[in-house]
Amino acid sequence: MPDTQKTEKLAQLACQLEELTNSPLYEFRQENNYHAVFGEGDAAAKVLFIGEAPGKQEAIKGRPFVGASGRTLDEMLAAIGLARKDVYITNVVKDRPPNNRDPRPEEIDLYTPFLTQQLAIIQPRVIATLGRFAMEFVLARFGLTEPGQKISQMHGRPLEAEAEYGRVTIVPLYHPAVALYNRDQRQTLEDDFQVLKQYM
Ligand code: URA
Repeated sequence: MPDTQKTEKLAQLACQLEELTNSPLYEFRQENNYHAVFGEGDAAAKVLFIGEAPGKQEAIKGRPFVGASGRTLDEMLAAIGLARKDVYITNVVKDRPPNNRDPRPEEIDLYTPFLTQQLAIIQPRVIATLGRFAMEFVLARFGLTEPGQKISQMHGRPLEAEAEYGRVTIVPLYHPAVALYNRDQRQTLEDDFQVLKQYM
């Protein structure tokens, strides 16, 4: 699919998300003048980053990872010579859950078709999950769930999977928020980002 067509298809999908009034999170979006957060970046990116759900800053701006953890993500990208425009960034759940609570199963189900279509359009070679929640979601989606999987053991270790469009490598990463208050975790995240370099 040509890149311009990918961009167009993503824009159409983003419009559908705006109109998703049957979401349990829609009222909260409206009440607070929040936006849905579809995702952004290169429609033909080799690397797709997937986080959990938008936080307050993201919901205000309608853009993923623009708060404190977004700054860390930008720094991690810069450390491997990348900018946001070189990758695509999105979340499993596309509206902010109240009080940053964990998304509920019915919310995840509702937004899953959006992520599935984003994958089908972008067709990334690599999916980098940010945090435990996104890791568990993506591993389940690709039939890679195994008992006792912990992010502390999985982070930075690429896994091969079969997507509808071909092979994809999944790289579980810690959530950038963990690096905000912990130097060791920040170093771990930075080291894990090096893994992504080989795919660029
Ligand atoms: N945390 C996430 O998981 N996603 C965002 O977009 C922002 C913070």
